[in-house]
Amino acid sequence: MTERLGPADIARAATLLRAGELVGFPTETVYGLGADARNGRAVAGVFEAKGRPHFNPLICHFASAEAAFAQVEADDRARALAAAFWPGPLTLVLPRRDGCEVDLLAGAGLDTLAVRVPAHPVALALIAAMDGPVAAPSANRSGGVSPTTAAHVLAGLDGRIAAVIDGGACPVGVESTVLDLSGGAVLLRHGGVTVEAIEAVIGRVGRPLPITAAEASCSLRSPGMMLSHYAPGLPVRLGAVEVSADEGLLAFGAPLAGAGAVFQLSEASDVREAAARLFAGLRALDAMPGLTGIAVMPVPEAGLGAAINDRLTRAAAPR
Ligand code: TXA
Ligand code: MG
Repeated sequence: MTERLGPADIARAATLLRAGELVGFPTETVYGLGADARNGRAVAGVFEAKGRPHFNPLICHFASAEAAFAQVEADDRARALAAAFWPGPLTLVLPRRDGCEVDLLAGAGLDTLAVRVPAHPVALALIAAMDGPVAAPSANRSGGVSPTTAAHVLAGLDGRIAAVIDGGACPVGVESTVLDLSGGAVLLRHGGVTVEAIEAVIGRVGRPLPITAAEASCSLRSPGMMLSHYAPGLPVRLGAVEVSADEGLLAFGAPLAGAGAVFQLSEASDVREAAARLFAGLRALDAMPGLTGIAVMPVPEAGLGAAINDRLTRAAAPR
């Protein structure tokens, strides 16, 4: 049985983490499944609870840039980005320092580590109370839709984790942007901080080549780039300009007529609002009886639209 905790129960949650247990907690992006990153058994438990392939490394969460940079080697680019965007939805991949406390399994054995300082008060309080790095992937079964409420976490992981802290809905709604700075700056995942905003601080950032289904099934620089990911149970169809009565419509702006059910991402065509509602929308339509698929209206690429379209492309990819 998974304990239901609230924001007032930080001490209890930290005690569980220190004992090697797993705790779901809110961040500004999505809910994370936290474990003490120094404890190999706890980290192994994360992979087990999620059914996550062991080659896919976890992000380590810290209460401050100083704490993060004690574990990884930060250069001027990393420091400038931390100053600009932390706490916030940006993850930096940097070389592990000698004596790095984070268990090797958390980084899937790589000589780099993904680090970030989240902007959610509950997450920051939990990390401070545990007094160490918290390894946390999104708190969903591997390959599925990321959770943006505590109820979403329980839908996938009830009984498999010690506790979840209910801190309400996540304000950003898509995961952090992942930027590899272990060599030339390369974007590994679109997310809550736009590439344009990053380039305004450190200059040109490399974009990964679009990946093919063949590449998606084997080892990658960032396994989260796997093509089929964020997938609901129903098939997903993108760029819908008409919709049928047996489909659920994920609407953006004035909805198409004729759908069996409609979930509005943003009536006002606001990509920020749509990002915050994206995963809840996929889950809501997926749970609706009688539908045979989900049709998605086009979302512009601007701003957070890049992250939304990235997640939707993977949700629609061949499984
Ligand atoms: O917003 C987020 O980032 C959320 C919240 C909980 O912080 N976390 C999250 O974690 O999305 P996860 O595990 O679902 O995604 C982590 C991504 C994966 O794509 C993984 O492959 C990549 O980061 N990653 C982690 N460590 C890496 C490393 N050393 N090198 C390259 N990619 C790495
Ligand atoms: Mg994930």
